[in-house]
Amino acid sequence: MESVENLNTNPIEIADGVYWLGYTDDNAGLHCNPYLVRDGDEAVLIDGGSRDDFSHVMLKILRTGLKPAQILRLIYHHYDPDLCGNLPQLEAIINTQELRIISHMENNVFIRYYSAKTPKLDYRVINHEFTFSSGRKLTFHGTPFCHAPGSFMTFDEQTKTLFSSDLFGSYDANWHLYVNLEKHCGMCEGQRICPNTGKKCPLYGIDQFHKRIMPSNTALSHALDVIEELPFERIAPQHGGILKTREDAMVVIDYLRRLQNVGIDYLVAEKKL
Ligand SMILES: [Fe+2]
Ligand SMILES: [Fe+2]
Repeated sequence: MESVENLNTNPIEIADGVYWLGYTDDNAGLHCNPYLVRDGDEAVLIDGGSRDDFSHVMLKILRTGLKPAQILRLIYHHYDPDLCGNLPQLEAIINTQELRIISHMENNVFIRYYSAKTPKLDYRVINHEFTFSSGRKLTFHGTPFCHAPGSFMTFDEQTKTLFSSDLFGSYDANWHLYVNLEKHCGMCEGQRICPNTGKKCPLYGIDQFHKRIMPSNTALSHALDVIEELPFERIAPQHGGILKTREDAMVVIDYLRRLQNVGIDYLVAEKKL
C-alpha cells in the first residue's frame, strides 16, 4: 500500500505514462482525481482539478519531469468547478500558443467563464480523438446527461485505461486509491455495512453518488452500454477509487444496472422533493 505522504506528494503511475495527480484528505467525503497522460515529451491533462488543488497538481506534474509548456491539451469531461476550477492558473503557467481545451460544445459554453483565452475544441469536430506524435491515441466517447448534457469519457488505447469522469465516482470518506472488491461484492445489495465483512461497503458510496448525481436511469443505462462496448482494462474515475481490472469494473457495472432510483426517481422514491 502507498504511504499517505507518497500519495500526496508524488505522481502515482497507474499505467504506462498515466499518472494519478490527486491527494488524500481524511476530512473529505469527495476525493477528486486529476490525471496526466504523458507520452515522451508531450502530455495531456485530464479533469485538472479545483482552484485549491492547483499547487498539489502542479507539484506532481513537475515531479514527472515534465515542463508545464509540454502540456498540449486540457481535457474537461464537463464543466464543474471540482475539475475546471484551476484552469486560469494552468493556462497561465503553461503559457503556450499551442494549448487547446478539448471538451463538448455544451460544456464549452460554461468553460469559457473559467477561461475565455484558450481555444476550445468540441471532441466531435476532431474526429473523437487526439493523437500524440508517437501515434498513441486517446479517443472520446459521449455519455450525455451523465451527468451534464455534454459529458463524455476519454479512452487511452495504449494502456486501455478509461477515464470515466463522474461515472464510477463515489462519496466515501474511507478513500483508497484502488477500490477493494471481493468475491461477495458481486452479490451486493447496497447496504452501508457489508454483512460479509462487517465493514463499510465499498459499493455504498458509489451507489449514493450515482443516485444523487446522475439525472435518471435512462442516462445511466445508456452510459453503461457505451462503456461495456470499450475494451478497457481499468477505469479511472474523477472521484473515489480506481477500478483496477475489467472484472472489478463489471461488478460495479452490474451493480449500477440494478439501481432502481437514480436522480429524480431517487428524490421521488425517498420523498425528498
Ligand atoms: Fe460533475
Ligand atoms: Fe466531479
